[in-house]
Amino acid sequence: MLFSAMVRVCVIGAGAAGVCAARHLLVEPCVDHVDIFEQASQLGGTWVYTEKVGYDDFGLPIHSSMYKSLRTNLPKEIMGFPDFPVPESEKSYLPAKEMLSFLQLYADKHQVTDRINFNHHVNLVIPKAGPSGELWDVSFKNLLNGESETREYDYVFVCNGHYNTPFIPNIPGLKEFQGDVMHSHDYRVPEIFSGKRVLVVGAGPSGMDIALEVTNVAHKVILSHHLKEQPRTVFPDNLTQKPDVKRLDGKKVHFADESEDEVDVVFLCTGYLYNFPFLHESCNISVEDNCVEPLYKHLVNIHHPTMCFIGVPYYVCAFSMFDLQVRYYIRSINGTFSLPSTEEMIAHWEEEKKDRASRGYTKRQAHMMGPDQEKYYASLATEAGTKSLPSVLTKIREESSIRFLHNLKHYRQDVYKIIDDNTYEIVNDAAR
Ligand SMILES: Cc1cc2nc3c(=O)[nH]c(=O)nc-3n(C[C@H](O)[C@H](O)[C@H](O)COP(=O)(O)OP(=O)(O)OC[C@H]3O[C@@H](n4cnc5c(N)ncnc54)[C@H](O)[C@@H]3O)c2cc1C
Ligand SMILES: *[C@@H]1O[C@H](CO)[C@@H](O)[C@H](O)[C@H]1NC(C)=O
Ligand SMILES: *[C@@H]1O[C@H](CO)[C@@H](O)[C@H](O)[C@H]1NC(C)=O
Ligand SMILES: *[C@@H]1O[C@H](CO)[C@@H](O)[C@H](O)[C@H]1NC(C)=O
Repeated sequence: MLFSAMVRVCVIGAGAAGVCAARHLLVEPCVDHVDIFEQASQLGGTWVYTEKVGYDDFGLPIHSSMYKSLRTNLPKEIMGFPDFPVPESEKSYLPAKEMLSFLQLYADKHQVTDRINFNHHVNLVIPKAGPSGELWDVSFKNLLNGESETREYDYVFVCNGHYNTPFIPNIPGLKEFQGDVMHSHDYRVPEIFSGKRVLVVGAGPSGMDIALEVTNVAHKVILSHHLKEQPRTVFPDNLTQKPDVKRLDGKKVHFADESEDEVDVVFLCTGYLYNFPFLHESCNISVEDNCVEPLYKHLVNIHHPTMCFIGVPYYVCAFSMFDLQVRYYIRSINGTFSLPSTEEMIAHWEEEKKDRASRGYTKRQAHMMGPDQEKYYASLATEAGTKSLPSVLTKIREESSIRFLHNLKHYRQDVYKIIDDNTYEIVNDAAR
Protein backbone atom coordinates (compact mmCIF):
# COMPACT_ATOMS: atom_id res chain seq x y z
CA MET A 1 0.00 0.00 0.00
CA LEU A 2 1.36 3.44 0.86
CA PHE A 3 4.91 2.48 1.75
CA SER A 4 6.18 5.93 1.00
CA ALA A 5 3.95 7.67 3.52
CA MET A 6 4.05 7.47 7.30
CA VAL A 7 1.63 4.86 8.61
CA ARG A 8 0.03 6.08 11.82
CA VAL A 9 -2.31 3.84 13.79
CA CYS A 10 -4.71 4.55 16.65
CA VAL A 11 -5.80 1.80 19.05
CA ILE A 12 -8.92 2.54 21.13
CA GLY A 13 -8.92 0.58 24.39
CA ALA A 14 -6.30 -1.42 26.28
CA GLY A 15 -8.20 -4.52 27.29
CA ALA A 16 -7.02 -7.87 25.98
CA ALA A 17 -7.91 -6.88 22.39
CA GLY A 18 -6.19 -3.50 22.40
CA VAL A 19 -3.07 -4.81 24.12
CA CYS A 20 -2.86 -7.62 21.57
CA ALA A 21 -3.24 -5.16 18.68
CA ALA A 22 -0.49 -2.98 20.17
CA ARG A 23 1.78 -5.98 20.74
CA HIS A 24 1.83 -6.67 16.98
CA LEU A 25 1.62 -3.10 15.71
CA LEU A 26 4.61 -1.94 17.76
CA VAL A 27 6.93 -4.43 16.04
CA GLU A 28 5.46 -4.16 12.56
CA PRO A 29 8.08 -2.61 10.24
CA CYS A 30 5.51 -0.90 8.00
CA VAL A 31 3.87 0.91 10.92
CA ASP A 32 5.61 4.13 11.92
CA HIS A 33 3.56 5.38 14.82
CA VAL A 34 1.07 3.82 17.26
CA ASP A 35 -1.07 5.68 19.80
CA ILE A 36 -2.99 3.58 22.33
CA PHE A 37 -5.78 5.32 24.24
CA GLU A 38 -7.23 3.80 27.39
CA GLN A 39 -9.77 5.70 29.48
CA ALA A 40 -8.97 3.77 32.67
CA SER A 41 -5.83 4.21 34.75
CA GLN A 42 -4.77 0.62 34.08
CA LEU A 43 -4.95 -2.01 31.34
CA GLY A 44 -7.08 -5.15 31.36
CA GLY A 45 -10.63 -3.88 30.68
CA THR A 46 -13.16 -6.50 31.76
CA TRP A 47 -10.66 -8.14 34.12
CA VAL A 48 -10.21 -5.07 36.32
CA TYR A 49 -12.49 -5.60 39.32
CA THR A 50 -13.92 -2.55 41.04
CA GLU A 51 -16.46 -2.28 43.83
CA LYS A 52 -17.83 0.84 42.17
CA VAL A 53 -20.97 0.80 40.08
CA GLY A 54 -22.63 3.58 38.10
CA TYR A 55 -20.13 6.27 37.15
CA ASP A 56 -16.41 6.76 37.77
CA ASP A 57 -14.62 9.85 39.11
CA PHE A 58 -14.69 11.42 35.64
CA GLY A 59 -18.40 10.85 35.06
CA LEU A 60 -17.88 7.95 32.64
CA PRO A 61 -19.99 4.80 33.04
CA ILE A 62 -18.14 2.08 34.98
CA HIS A 63 -16.76 -0.26 32.33
CA SER A 64 -16.15 -3.54 34.10
CA SER A 65 -18.87 -6.12 34.73
CA MET A 66 -16.62 -8.25 36.89
CA TYR A 67 -17.99 -9.60 40.18
CA LYS A 68 -15.87 -10.32 43.20
CA SER A 69 -16.00 -14.10 43.23
CA LEU A 70 -15.55 -14.53 39.47
CA ARG A 71 -13.42 -17.32 38.17
CA THR A 72 -13.02 -17.89 34.43
CA ASN A 73 -15.67 -19.98 32.70
CA LEU A 74 -13.08 -21.43 30.34
CA PRO A 75 -9.91 -23.27 31.29
CA LYS A 76 -6.73 -21.18 31.17
CA GLU A 77 -5.26 -23.66 28.67
CA ILE A 78 -7.44 -22.03 25.98
CA MET A 79 -7.39 -18.49 27.32
CA GLY A 80 -3.86 -17.46 26.42
CA PHE A 81 -2.43 -15.95 23.25
CA PRO A 82 -0.94 -18.28 20.60
CA ASP A 83 2.55 -16.88 21.26
CA PHE A 84 2.01 -16.35 24.98
CA PRO A 85 0.11 -19.05 26.89
CA VAL A 86 -1.16 -18.58 30.43
CA PRO A 87 1.66 -19.82 32.69
CA GLU A 88 1.46 -23.34 34.12
CA SER A 89 -0.28 -23.68 37.45
CA GLU A 90 -2.27 -26.27 39.33
CA LYS A 91 -5.77 -25.11 38.38
CA SER A 92 -7.41 -24.60 35.00
CA TYR A 93 -10.11 -22.12 36.03
CA LEU A 94 -8.50 -18.98 37.40
CA PRO A 95 -9.75 -16.08 39.51
CA ALA A 96 -10.17 -12.80 37.59
CA LYS A 97 -7.18 -11.35 39.42
CA GLU A 98 -4.87 -13.95 37.89
CA MET A 99 -6.18 -13.24 34.39
CA LEU A 100 -5.46 -9.57 35.00
CA SER A 101 -1.90 -10.39 36.10
CA PHE A 102 -1.51 -12.48 32.99
CA LEU A 103 -2.55 -9.59 30.74
CA GLN A 104 -0.17 -7.27 32.60
CA LEU A 105 2.65 -9.77 32.12
CA TYR A 106 1.88 -10.05 28.41
CA ALA A 107 1.80 -6.27 27.99
CA ASP A 108 5.01 -5.75 29.98
CA LYS A 109 6.84 -8.50 28.14
CA HIS A 110 6.06 -6.87 24.79
CA GLN A 111 6.79 -3.30 25.91
CA VAL A 112 3.15 -2.31 25.46
CA THR A 113 2.37 -1.02 28.97
CA ASP A 114 4.70 1.99 28.79
CA ARG A 115 3.20 2.98 25.45
CA ILE A 116 -0.40 3.22 26.64
CA ASN A 117 -1.93 6.66 27.13
CA PHE A 118 -3.89 5.93 30.30
CA ASN A 119 -6.75 8.19 31.45
CA HIS A 120 -7.37 9.14 27.82
CA HIS A 121 -10.96 8.87 26.67
CA VAL A 122 -11.73 8.79 22.94
CA ASN A 123 -14.95 10.66 22.21
CA LEU A 124 -15.07 11.08 18.43
CA VAL A 125 -13.79 9.24 15.39
CA ILE A 126 -14.51 10.75 12.02
CA PRO A 127 -13.24 9.90 8.52
CA LYS A 128 -11.96 12.60 6.18
CA ALA A 129 -10.41 12.81 2.74
CA GLY A 130 -6.62 12.91 2.69
CA PRO A 131 -4.20 13.66 -0.15
CA SER A 132 -3.87 9.99 -1.09
CA GLY A 133 -6.87 8.25 0.42
CA GLU A 134 -8.98 8.41 3.50
CA LEU A 135 -7.70 9.48 6.91
CA TRP A 136 -9.16 9.53 10.42
CA ASP A 137 -9.55 12.33 12.89
CA VAL A 138 -9.60 10.92 16.41
CA SER A 139 -10.55 13.24 19.26
CA PHE A 140 -9.68 12.35 22.80
CA LYS A 141 -9.61 13.92 26.23
CA ASN A 142 -6.93 13.64 28.85
CA LEU A 143 -9.14 12.96 31.87
CA LEU A 144 -6.50 14.10 34.34
CA ASN A 145 -6.01 17.63 33.03
CA GLY A 146 -9.24 17.97 31.03
CA GLU A 147 -7.41 18.83 27.80
CA SER A 148 -8.88 17.70 24.50
CA GLU A 149 -7.00 17.04 21.30
CA THR A 150 -7.60 15.73 17.80
CA ARG A 151 -4.99 13.69 15.93
CA GLU A 152 -4.81 12.32 12.41
CA TYR A 153 -4.35 8.60 11.67
CA ASP A 154 -4.21 6.26 8.70
CA TYR A 155 -5.76 3.33 10.56
CA VAL A 156 -8.05 2.90 13.55
CA PHE A 157 -8.35 -0.26 15.66
CA VAL A 158 -11.59 -0.27 17.64
CA CYS A 159 -10.99 -2.39 20.77
CA ASN A 160 -13.50 -0.99 23.27
CA GLY A 161 -15.09 -4.28 24.42
CA HIS A 162 -18.73 -5.29 24.37
CA TYR A 163 -19.63 -6.47 27.86
CA ASN A 164 -20.37 -3.14 29.43
CA THR A 165 -23.62 -1.67 28.07
CA PRO A 166 -26.49 -3.64 29.67
CA PHE A 167 -29.18 -5.11 27.45
CA ILE A 168 -32.55 -4.58 29.13
CA PRO A 169 -35.21 -6.90 27.71
CA ASN A 170 -38.67 -5.68 26.91
CA ILE A 171 -40.65 -7.37 29.70
CA PRO A 172 -44.17 -5.96 30.12
CA GLY A 173 -44.48 -4.37 33.55
CA LEU A 174 -40.72 -4.09 34.14
CA LYS A 175 -40.76 -0.27 34.38
CA GLU A 176 -43.61 -0.40 36.90
CA PHE A 177 -42.15 -3.29 38.94
CA GLN A 178 -42.61 -2.50 42.63
CA GLY A 179 -39.36 -4.06 43.86
CA ASP A 180 -35.74 -3.55 42.78
CA VAL A 181 -34.55 -4.04 39.23
CA MET A 182 -30.88 -4.56 38.60
CA HIS A 183 -28.57 -5.78 35.80
CA SER A 184 -25.62 -8.13 36.27
CA HIS A 185 -23.31 -5.33 35.04
CA ASP A 186 -23.81 -3.81 38.52
CA TYR A 187 -23.43 -7.05 40.46
CA ARG A 188 -20.38 -7.36 42.73
CA VAL A 189 -21.24 -9.39 45.85
CA PRO A 190 -24.24 -11.57 46.82
CA GLU A 191 -24.89 -9.88 50.20
CA ILE A 192 -27.08 -7.21 48.60
CA PHE A 193 -29.71 -9.95 48.17
CA SER A 194 -29.72 -11.15 51.79
CA GLY A 195 -33.15 -12.45 52.79
CA LYS A 196 -34.72 -11.38 49.48
CA ARG A 197 -36.82 -13.27 46.96
CA VAL A 198 -34.79 -12.93 43.76
CA LEU A 199 -35.84 -13.55 40.18
CA VAL A 200 -32.75 -14.14 38.01
CA VAL A 201 -33.55 -13.65 34.33
CA GLY A 202 -31.19 -15.43 31.93
CA ALA A 203 -29.01 -18.52 32.17
CA GLY A 204 -25.85 -17.47 30.37
CA PRO A 205 -22.53 -17.99 32.15
CA SER A 206 -23.16 -15.02 34.48
CA GLY A 207 -26.80 -15.85 35.19
CA MET A 208 -26.04 -19.43 36.18
CA ASP A 209 -23.02 -18.53 38.27
CA ILE A 210 -24.64 -15.66 40.08
CA ALA A 211 -27.94 -17.47 40.66
CA LEU A 212 -26.05 -20.22 42.43
CA GLU A 213 -24.00 -17.76 44.47
CA VAL A 214 -27.12 -15.85 45.50
CA THR A 215 -28.82 -18.97 46.91
CA ASN A 216 -26.37 -18.75 49.83
CA VAL A 217 -27.93 -15.56 51.13
CA ALA A 218 -31.29 -15.02 49.44
CA HIS A 219 -34.63 -16.18 50.86
CA LYS A 220 -35.21 -17.92 47.55
CA VAL A 221 -34.02 -17.74 43.96
CA ILE A 222 -36.01 -18.29 40.78
CA LEU A 223 -33.95 -18.83 37.62
CA SER A 224 -35.98 -17.99 34.53
CA HIS A 225 -34.54 -19.12 31.21
CA HIS A 226 -35.26 -20.68 27.84
CA LEU A 227 -32.28 -23.01 27.47
CA LYS A 228 -33.11 -25.62 24.86
CA GLU A 229 -31.16 -28.22 26.76
CA GLN A 230 -32.13 -28.47 30.44
CA PRO A 231 -29.03 -28.22 32.64
CA ARG A 232 -28.40 -31.49 34.44
CA THR A 233 -26.83 -29.53 37.28
CA VAL A 234 -28.39 -30.32 40.63
CA PHE A 235 -29.40 -26.95 42.04
CA PRO A 236 -29.99 -26.33 45.77
CA ASP A 237 -33.62 -26.69 46.99
CA ASN A 238 -34.00 -22.94 47.34
CA LEU A 239 -33.46 -22.41 43.59
CA THR A 240 -36.38 -23.05 41.25
CA GLN A 241 -36.14 -23.07 37.45
CA LYS A 242 -38.89 -21.42 35.45
CA PRO A 243 -39.53 -20.64 31.80
CA ASP A 244 -39.51 -17.07 30.39
CA VAL A 245 -41.27 -14.24 32.19
CA LYS A 246 -44.45 -13.22 30.40
CA ARG A 247 -45.14 -10.10 32.44
CA LEU A 248 -44.65 -8.43 35.79
CA ASP A 249 -47.44 -6.95 37.84
CA GLY A 250 -46.64 -5.12 41.06
CA LYS A 251 -44.33 -7.67 42.69
CA LYS A 252 -45.94 -10.60 40.90
CA VAL A 253 -44.20 -12.53 38.14
CA HIS A 254 -46.25 -14.33 35.49
CA PHE A 255 -44.33 -17.04 33.66
CA ALA A 256 -44.85 -18.47 30.18
CA ASP A 257 -46.21 -21.72 31.66
CA GLU A 258 -49.02 -19.74 33.37
CA SER A 259 -47.49 -20.20 36.83
CA GLU A 260 -46.87 -17.14 39.02
CA ASP A 261 -44.82 -16.08 42.00
CA GLU A 262 -43.89 -13.01 44.02
CA VAL A 263 -40.36 -11.57 44.22
CA ASP A 264 -38.53 -8.60 45.71
CA VAL A 265 -35.83 -8.23 43.07
CA VAL A 266 -35.73 -8.69 39.31
CA PHE A 267 -32.11 -9.38 38.51
CA LEU A 268 -31.37 -9.19 34.79
CA CYS A 269 -28.55 -11.41 33.57
CA THR A 270 -29.61 -10.67 30.03
CA GLY A 271 -26.34 -9.77 28.42
CA TYR A 272 -24.88 -6.71 26.79
CA LEU A 273 -25.14 -4.45 23.75
CA TYR A 274 -22.42 -3.56 21.27
CA ASN A 275 -21.87 0.14 21.65
CA PHE A 276 -19.53 2.52 19.83
CA PRO A 277 -20.58 5.94 21.12
CA PHE A 278 -17.46 7.59 19.66
CA LEU A 279 -18.07 6.61 16.04
CA HIS A 280 -19.48 9.50 14.00
CA GLU A 281 -22.34 8.50 11.70
CA SER A 282 -20.07 9.00 8.69
CA CYS A 283 -18.15 5.91 9.86
CA ASN A 284 -21.18 4.08 8.41
CA ILE A 285 -21.41 1.46 11.14
CA SER A 286 -24.85 0.60 12.40
CA VAL A 287 -25.75 -1.46 15.44
CA GLU A 288 -29.26 -2.82 15.37
CA ASP A 289 -30.52 -5.75 17.40
CA ASN A 290 -26.90 -6.40 18.37
CA CYS A 291 -25.74 -6.83 14.80
CA VAL A 292 -22.77 -4.59 13.93
CA GLU A 293 -22.65 -3.94 10.21
CA PRO A 294 -21.43 -3.87 7.59
CA LEU A 295 -18.24 -5.66 8.66
CA TYR A 296 -16.18 -7.99 6.48
CA LYS A 297 -15.47 -11.18 8.43
CA HIS A 298 -16.81 -9.50 11.62
CA LEU A 299 -13.68 -7.36 11.52
CA VAL A 300 -13.22 -4.82 8.70
CA ASN A 301 -15.42 -1.74 8.29
CA ILE A 302 -16.53 -2.37 4.71
CA HIS A 303 -17.22 1.26 3.82
CA HIS A 304 -13.97 2.42 5.44
CA PRO A 305 -11.55 -0.53 5.32
CA THR A 306 -8.86 1.39 7.21
CA MET A 307 -10.93 0.82 10.36
CA CYS A 308 -11.12 -2.56 12.05
CA PHE A 309 -12.92 -3.96 15.09
CA ILE A 310 -11.10 -6.51 17.23
CA GLY A 311 -13.16 -8.93 19.29
CA VAL A 312 -16.68 -8.65 17.90
CA PRO A 313 -17.44 -12.42 17.65
CA TYR A 314 -18.48 -14.23 20.84
CA TYR A 315 -18.49 -17.87 21.99
CA VAL A 316 -14.89 -18.01 20.82
CA CYS A 317 -11.44 -18.56 22.27
CA ALA A 318 -11.23 -14.85 22.82
CA PHE A 319 -7.57 -13.90 23.23
CA SER A 320 -6.39 -16.33 20.54
CA MET A 321 -9.01 -14.99 18.17
CA PHE A 322 -7.96 -11.39 18.89
CA ASP A 323 -4.41 -12.39 17.95
CA LEU A 324 -5.54 -13.99 14.70
CA GLN A 325 -7.75 -11.04 13.78
CA VAL A 326 -4.86 -8.64 14.45
CA ARG A 327 -2.39 -10.69 12.41
CA TYR A 328 -4.94 -10.88 9.58
CA TYR A 329 -5.61 -7.18 9.54
CA ILE A 330 -1.95 -6.11 9.81
CA ARG A 331 -1.18 -8.34 6.85
CA SER A 332 -3.71 -6.35 4.86
CA ILE A 333 -1.89 -3.18 5.95
CA ASN A 334 1.57 -4.51 5.20
CA GLY A 335 0.69 -5.71 1.74
CA THR A 336 0.88 -9.48 2.31
CA PHE A 337 -2.61 -9.61 0.77
CA SER A 338 -5.25 -7.16 -0.38
CA LEU A 339 -8.75 -6.94 1.00
CA PRO A 340 -11.47 -7.62 -1.58
CA SER A 341 -13.32 -4.71 -3.21
CA THR A 342 -16.22 -3.03 -1.39
CA GLU A 343 -18.72 -4.90 -3.59
CA GLU A 344 -17.06 -8.24 -2.89
CA MET A 345 -16.97 -7.62 0.85
CA ILE A 346 -20.64 -6.61 0.88
CA ALA A 347 -21.54 -9.71 -1.13
CA HIS A 348 -19.56 -11.87 1.29
CA TRP A 349 -21.34 -10.43 4.33
CA GLU A 350 -24.78 -10.72 2.72
CA GLU A 351 -24.02 -14.33 1.83
CA GLU A 352 -22.92 -15.05 5.39
CA LYS A 353 -26.08 -13.48 6.80
CA LYS A 354 -28.21 -15.60 4.48
CA ASP A 355 -26.32 -18.73 5.47
CA ARG A 356 -26.72 -17.96 9.17
CA ALA A 357 -30.44 -17.26 8.78
CA SER A 358 -30.90 -20.53 6.91
CA ARG A 359 -29.38 -22.33 9.90
CA GLY A 360 -31.81 -20.69 12.31
CA TYR A 361 -29.59 -17.94 13.73
CA THR A 362 -31.46 -14.75 14.61
CA LYS A 363 -30.20 -11.25 13.85
CA ARG A 364 -29.25 -10.92 17.52
CA GLN A 365 -26.87 -13.84 17.00
CA ALA A 366 -25.09 -12.23 14.02
CA HIS A 367 -21.68 -12.51 15.71
CA MET A 368 -22.14 -15.74 17.62
CA MET A 369 -19.51 -18.30 16.66
CA GLY A 370 -19.64 -21.43 18.83
CA PRO A 371 -19.79 -24.28 16.31
CA ASP A 372 -18.74 -21.87 13.51
CA GLN A 373 -15.52 -20.77 15.15
CA GLU A 374 -13.13 -23.25 13.57
CA LYS A 375 -14.36 -22.29 10.09
CA TYR A 376 -14.08 -18.62 10.96
CA TYR A 377 -10.48 -18.97 12.13
CA ALA A 378 -9.56 -20.94 9.02
CA SER A 379 -11.12 -18.36 6.74
CA LEU A 380 -9.07 -15.53 8.29
CA ALA A 381 -5.85 -17.55 8.28
CA THR A 382 -6.23 -18.75 4.70
CA GLU A 383 -7.03 -15.37 3.23
CA ALA A 384 -4.10 -13.67 4.97
CA GLY A 385 -1.68 -16.58 4.69
CA THR A 386 -1.10 -16.67 8.43
CA LYS A 387 -1.20 -19.51 10.95
CA SER A 388 -4.67 -20.56 12.10
CA LEU A 389 -5.53 -21.60 15.66
CA PRO A 390 -5.01 -25.22 16.65
CA SER A 391 -8.25 -27.20 16.72
CA VAL A 392 -7.49 -28.43 20.23
CA LEU A 393 -8.68 -25.01 21.44
CA THR A 394 -12.16 -25.37 19.97
CA LYS A 395 -12.35 -28.97 21.15
CA ILE A 396 -11.64 -28.00 24.74
CA ARG A 397 -14.02 -25.08 24.46
CA GLU A 398 -16.82 -27.37 23.41
CA GLU A 399 -16.21 -29.92 26.13
CA SER A 400 -15.87 -27.33 28.87
CA SER A 401 -19.16 -25.68 27.85
CA ILE A 402 -20.99 -28.98 28.17
CA ARG A 403 -19.42 -29.65 31.54
CA PHE A 404 -20.38 -26.16 32.65
CA LEU A 405 -24.03 -26.80 31.82
CA HIS A 406 -24.25 -30.15 33.51
CA ASN A 407 -22.02 -29.74 36.50
CA LEU A 408 -22.14 -26.09 37.38
CA LYS A 409 -20.98 -26.63 40.93
CA HIS A 410 -17.86 -28.62 40.22
CA TYR A 411 -16.77 -28.14 36.59
CA ARG A 412 -14.15 -25.62 37.67
CA GLN A 413 -12.24 -28.41 39.41
CA ASP A 414 -11.51 -29.99 36.01
CA VAL A 415 -7.89 -29.65 34.98
CA TYR A 416 -7.03 -29.74 31.29
CA LYS A 417 -3.75 -30.58 29.67
CA ILE A 418 -2.99 -29.90 26.02
CA ILE A 419 -1.05 -32.75 24.40
CA ASP A 420 -0.70 -31.39 20.88
CA ASP A 421 -2.58 -29.25 18.32
CA ASN A 422 -5.39 -31.81 18.16
CA THR A 423 -5.49 -33.60 21.48
CA TYR A 424 -5.91 -32.89 25.16
CA GLU A 425 -6.69 -34.77 28.30
CA ILE A 426 -8.53 -33.99 31.50
CA VAL A 427 -6.09 -34.86 34.24
CA ASN A 428 -8.42 -34.12 37.11
CA ASP A 429 -11.98 -34.93 36.15
CA ALA A 430 -14.42 -33.33 38.59
CA ALA A 431 -17.29 -35.52 37.42
CA ARG A 432 -15.50 -38.71 38.32
C1 LIG B 1 -18.25 -11.10 33.84
C2 LIG B 1 -17.47 -11.53 32.64
C3 LIG B 1 -16.77 -12.74 32.63
C4 LIG B 1 -16.04 -13.16 31.53
N1 LIG B 1 -15.38 -14.35 31.60
C5 LIG B 1 -14.65 -14.76 30.53
C6 LIG B 1 -13.91 -15.99 30.59
O1 LIG B 1 -13.95 -16.71 31.57
N2 LIG B 1 -13.19 -16.34 29.51
C7 LIG B 1 -13.13 -15.55 28.38
O2 LIG B 1 -12.44 -15.90 27.43
N3 LIG B 1 -13.82 -14.41 28.30
C8 LIG B 1 -14.56 -13.98 29.35
N4 LIG B 1 -15.25 -12.79 29.28
C9 LIG B 1 -15.19 -12.02 28.03
C10 LIG B 1 -14.08 -10.94 28.11
O3 LIG B 1 -14.74 -9.73 28.09
C11 LIG B 1 -13.13 -11.11 26.97
O4 LIG B 1 -12.44 -12.32 27.15
C12 LIG B 1 -12.07 -10.02 26.83
O5 LIG B 1 -11.45 -9.76 28.06
C13 LIG B 1 -12.59 -8.78 26.19
O6 LIG B 1 -11.51 -7.94 25.90
P1 LIG B 1 -11.67 -6.59 25.09
O7 LIG B 1 -10.34 -5.98 25.03
O8 LIG B 1 -12.40 -6.86 23.83
O9 LIG B 1 -12.68 -5.68 25.93
P2 LIG B 1 -12.52 -5.05 27.39
O10 LIG B 1 -11.83 -5.96 28.30
O11 LIG B 1 -13.87 -4.58 27.76
O12 LIG B 1 -11.56 -3.80 27.16
C14 LIG B 1 -11.96 -2.65 26.49
C15 LIG B 1 -11.12 -1.48 27.00
O13 LIG B 1 -11.43 -0.31 26.22
C16 LIG B 1 -11.51 0.81 27.06
N5 LIG B 1 -12.38 1.80 26.41
C17 LIG B 1 -13.68 1.65 26.07
N6 LIG B 1 -14.14 2.76 25.48
C18 LIG B 1 -13.11 3.64 25.43
C19 LIG B 1 -12.97 4.97 24.94
N7 LIG B 1 -13.99 5.61 24.37
N8 LIG B 1 -11.77 5.59 25.06
C20 LIG B 1 -10.73 4.93 25.65
N9 LIG B 1 -10.81 3.67 26.13
C21 LIG B 1 -11.98 3.03 26.02
C22 LIG B 1 -12.08 0.25 28.36
O14 LIG B 1 -11.78 1.08 29.45
C23 LIG B 1 -11.41 -1.12 28.45
O15 LIG B 1 -10.20 -1.07 29.16
C24 LIG B 1 -15.99 -12.35 30.37
C25 LIG B 1 -16.69 -11.14 30.35
C26 LIG B 1 -17.41 -10.72 31.46
C27 LIG B 1 -18.15 -9.42 31.40
C1 LIG C 1 -30.03 -22.39 50.06
O1 LIG C 1 -29.52 -23.68 49.82
C2 LIG C 1 -28.10 -23.79 49.95
C3 LIG C 1 -27.69 -25.17 49.52
O2 LIG C 1 -28.47 -26.15 50.14
C4 LIG C 1 -27.70 -23.45 51.37
O3 LIG C 1 -26.29 -23.49 51.49
C5 LIG C 1 -28.18 -22.06 51.71
O4 LIG C 1 -27.88 -21.74 53.02
C6 LIG C 1 -29.67 -21.92 51.47
N1 LIG C 1 -30.01 -20.52 51.65
C7 LIG C 1 -30.89 -20.12 52.56
C8 LIG C 1 -31.04 -18.64 52.68
O5 LIG C 1 -31.52 -20.89 53.25
C1 LIG D 1 -21.95 7.02 5.06
O1 LIG D 1 -22.44 8.03 5.92
C2 LIG D 1 -22.55 9.31 5.34
C3 LIG D 1 -22.94 10.31 6.42
O2 LIG D 1 -23.99 9.80 7.23
C4 LIG D 1 -23.56 9.26 4.19
O3 LIG D 1 -23.67 10.51 3.57
C5 LIG D 1 -23.10 8.21 3.20
O4 LIG D 1 -24.05 8.06 2.16
C6 LIG D 1 -22.86 6.86 3.87
N1 LIG D 1 -22.24 5.93 2.93
C7 LIG D 1 -22.71 4.70 2.72
C8 LIG D 1 -21.99 3.88 1.72
O5 LIG D 1 -23.67 4.25 3.31
C1 LIG E 1 3.83 -8.34 7.50
O1 LIG E 1 4.34 -8.90 6.30
C2 LIG E 1 5.41 -9.80 6.36
C3 LIG E 1 5.70 -10.27 4.95
O2 LIG E 1 4.56 -10.76 4.31
C4 LIG E 1 5.16 -10.92 7.33
O3 LIG E 1 6.23 -11.83 7.42
C5 LIG E 1 4.85 -10.29 8.67
O4 LIG E 1 4.71 -11.28 9.66
C6 LIG E 1 3.61 -9.45 8.53
N1 LIG E 1 3.07 -9.01 9.78
C7 LIG E 1 2.14 -9.69 10.41
C8 LIG E 1 1.62 -9.12 11.68
O5 LIG E 1 1.71 -10.75 9.98
